Amino acid sequence: MSSSATSEKDSTSGARRVTCRFECIGCGSITPSPGNDFRCPKCSNLLEITDARWKTPHSNPESLKSLWRERRLLNQTVDLSGVWRFRELLPAPAADDQIVTLREGNTPIYELPRSSRSTGIARLYAKHQGMNPTGSFKDTGMTVAATFARQAGFHWVACASTGNTSASMAAYAARAGMRSLVLVPEGKISWSKLSQALDYGALTCQLRTDFDGCLRLLQELVKRAPVYQLNSINPFRIEGQKTAAIELLEQLDWESPDHVIVPGGNLGNSSAIGKALLEMHSLGLISRLPKLSVVQAEGANALVRTLRETGGKRLVSVQAETRATAIRIGSPASWQKAVKVLQATGGACEEVSEAEIAQAKAEIGQEGIGCEPASAVTLAGLKKLLRQGFVKTNEIVVLLLTGNLLKDPDFTIEFHRGEIPGKANEAGNRNLNSFRHPPVVLDASLDAVMQTLERADKSTPVSNAISNE
Ligand code: F0G
Repeated sequence: MSSSATSEKDSTSGARRVTCRFECIGCGSITPSPGNDFRCPKCSNLLEITDARWKTPHSNPESLKSLWRERRLLNQTVDLSGVWRFRELLPAPAADDQIVTLREGNTPIYELPRSSRSTGIARLYAKHQGMNPTGSFKDTGMTVAATFARQAGFHWVACASTGNTSASMAAYAARAGMRSLVLVPEGKISWSKLSQALDYGALTCQLRTDFDGCLRLLQELVKRAPVYQLNSINPFRIEGQKTAAIELLEQLDWESPDHVIVPGGNLGNSSAIGKALLEMHSLGLISRLPKLSVVQAEGANALVRTLRETGGKRLVSVQAETRATAIRIGSPASWQKAVKVLQATGGACEEVSEAEIAQAKAEIGQEGIGCEPASAVTLAGLKKLLRQGFVKTNEIVVLLLTGNLLKDPDFTIEFHRGEIPGKANEAGNRNLNSFRHPPVVLDASLDAVMQTLERADKSTPVSNAISNE
């Protein structure tokens, strides 16, 4: 399989190379180079990539759509990636063979019939970004950022992480022949994510601090050492993560949903999805702009408080605590970008409790779809937005599931055993008990299994346990 530029069907090679423009989201200054810290040299605010498209003759929306569709039948490496398939809206590397890819993207969008029935929303979908190569949405951004890291000649890449970024970065660094340095909060990330980083060969440092402490340290480190930062303040990450939104529109045959709902942690992903929606709208790929809403855990609700208490003008940091460890972040780096896209699309920002997260995760599980707790905040948040009247039952809603169930098996097992979010028999947890399916330990006898089967058959079938809560 080759990835030669000359073999591109749209014959855009040669003419398509453009340099990126990095624009400060604060003062609007343009800089040709993002520096090592990806901050504006004038005001230290974050940068975003503007006008970085591959030059292409396919500027009209309908021909872009058919070009992207046609590429699904091609076998070039660059076309097999569900990120680079949409390359007209991405920054262009110097040559196709620079692209570092694990065939990310191309993730399924599922209907959620049980949640549709329980919420009354007939057209409710989940776009499962946990079906990416390392099990989370991070891969869609990492393919782009790792490509530019290698192109820039870096030997080391680094990130602070609650687990998924480190797993993804380590995998893409390994593919690219770069070394990777991972900074994670000790004891606060799942073993699955940690084990991925180890297997992919990362130098993994478990720091005695939280995610916010890891990120602060990384930002000091990049000023001193020649390491390339792959956190989502890296604007190349954001560009790649845009493709989840483009792909979901393609999967809906370009019919805009009314709402796209995403989990919020460091807020890079919300920024990326929002940027994609706004770009697709301004390019005429969609005629109606969906509302982008962000949901956080109650214990890690910095954006909720920032909007509620300051109208989005000043960050309200929190001391984060939640069992949804992927989003256990108190001082989100991309909060200003997220505020901007939330306000531009007219979306909402909500918070949900640990019990609501656990229930929503189990409900998604009962659809035959496995996600991690951080992803389940989307369904929990949707129920709240529905009760508030912000979402209506006749609207089209897409939830973005960001990580795979296998990312955090401890949470799932503890939930089914009744150990979280509180003891199974505690008040307030009764509703949750109908979602728990604890394992049964038996003697290895046919009688014991038969009796258990008969008892289970007489008890309430799972399909009747739908709750509107
Ligand atoms: N869902 C999952 C599964 C995540 O891993 C993350 C972030 C988020 C949602 C939130 O996305 O930060 O862009 O708002 N995980 C990062 C990490 C922080 O290090 O893996 P965000």
